[in-house]
Amino acid sequence: MGAVVADGRGLASSIEQDVSRGVVELVESGIMPHLAVVIVGEDPASLVYVRNKQRACERCGIKSTLIGMPEGSSQEEVIETVDELNSDDSVHGILVQSPIPGDVDELEVASAISPIKDVDGFHPANLGRLVQGDASGLLPCTPAGVVRMLEHSGAQLRGAKAAVLGRSRIVGMPMSLMLAVKGIDATVTIVHSRSEDVETICRDSDIIIAAIGRPRTVKPDWVKPGAYVVDVGISREDDGGLVGDVDPHVAEVAGWMTPVPGGVGPMTIALLMENTLTAARNS
Ligand code: GUN
Repeated sequence: MGAVVADGRGLASSIEQDVSRGVVELVESGIMPHLAVVIVGEDPASLVYVRNKQRACERCGIKSTLIGMPEGSSQEEVIETVDELNSDDSVHGILVQSPIPGDVDELEVASAISPIKDVDGFHPANLGRLVQGDASGLLPCTPAGVVRMLEHSGAQLRGAKAAVLGRSRIVGMPMSLMLAVKGIDATVTIVHSRSEDVETICRDSDIIIAAIGRPRTVKPDWVKPGAYVVDVGISREDDGGLVGDVDPHVAEVAGWMTPVPGGVGPMTIALLMENTLTAARNS
């Protein structure tokens, strides 16, 4: 029997509908939620991601402003833009699209965003709250979307063994914390480029989250029959097709699996909309 294929688009759409209702209420109380997106340079993939975020804002009734900065913008210039948005009371959420080209320290930029407008959840104050076991603040959108999908799937998370492949600032690290936090209660192994016996760790896991950015890395014989497999990776192949970090044949072994595209991607955007609504409510 093949894996159940999760409907990320459907779940994202229902979250966006909830956000839209929240936006209507907020607008009635005199606040127009407003997301500012900063993009440096013209990386084609980043332009697509940013356009998708703006379209989601339109669907939810959230105002969005795109600030395009030329490639080669300095760290000081990017932080100056962030500072202006921090001081603009009409802006509730600020996002600087990653990767930022050139010699810009993304950690410095993340730290420059006001924590209450940090809809990416990358500010040390927001990540720090998560480390302290408090998952009620602004959380990074991709791992938050993954947790929502797993909860919706009916997977038993408490006590489950979860392998998180990748330790990135944007996905792997916050993902691991969110799965281990009280209330979710998974037992998490972080697998990274220096890990040994990765296949055995994966095969022993009830949940695998692949977030390494290497196409088709997780093979069917890495997966425990019936396991929940989440594919965060998205790479473009030479023929233009999109592939994840998980070999599609894994569907023959797993019990539940997220597709690429149409899985985690739409959820990331829906959670960004939710964070923007939360930031506007908290303003
Ligand atoms: N690039 C890839 N994912 C993300 C994300 O979640 N936020 C930002 N700002 N940039 C990204």
